[in-house]
Amino acid sequence: MDAVSTCEVPVVPEVHPAVLRRHSPMAFAPDVEIGDAALDTILDAGRLAPSAGNSQPWAFIVGRRGDGVHARIVRHLAGSSARWAPDASAIVVNLARVLVEDTDWEYSEFARYDLGQAVAHMTLQALSIGFDAHQFRAFDRDAVAADFGVPREWEVASMTAFGVAAHAPGTVVGVGRERRTRDDVTWTRARGDARR
Ligand SMILES: Cc1cc2nc3c(=O)[nH]c(=O)nc-3n(C[C@H](O)[C@H](O)[C@H](O)COP(=O)(O)O)c2cc1C
Repeated sequence: MDAVSTCEVPVVPEVHPAVLRRHSPMAFAPDVEIGDAALDTILDAGRLAPSAGNSQPWAFIVGRRGDGVHARIVRHLAGSSARWAPDASAIVVNLARVLVEDTDWEYSEFARYDLGQAVAHMTLQALSIGFDAHQFRAFDRDAVAADFGVPREWEVASMTAFGVAAHAPGTVVGVGRERRTRDDVTWTRARGDARR
């Protein structure tokens, strides 16, 4: 069978520009709005992510700055995230389906893994249409679940603030962005040259 790929191969292998540009802003431009079409594409990128057995164990509560959902989300932020997240154009609450409805059976052992992957897709999609993203956990999970009537089979896992950064990556004092080296994260690997 001929090789068929949906990806274009760059001449020189390089980290994707969106991956290089991505950072978690500690301040967002408070005057930037996000339209329905942009939010739709971000949600679609999450929806299209792979998941174990195509189980798609994710759901999202979407609040756009100025609307009622956003106001409810903001009420539950911790002091640390309340300093910057409300200025973002939107805040999305990320939910993982952890139990089968009305049972104690695990829905999927990969539910949280898959949700994280969907959110990763959303952050890169956002970057490709001009929006930065900052994932965070500094909020009251139980209060969010109660406010939005999230049933026990769903877990309120994290939030993502989407907007336009008000500062360049790495310029906020006290926020470390150092990364472990490639060698450190590579448990085992046999190196070898190949065409791609
Ligand atoms: C699951 C998760 C939870 C996070 N929680 C917070 C948080 O509560 N507050 C915060 O400021 N950043 C939070 N972050 C952002 C990380 O601190 C940030 O991604 C990390 O420091 C690397 O920086 P960078 O994203 O700018 O590369 C969280 C990120 C993830 C993925």
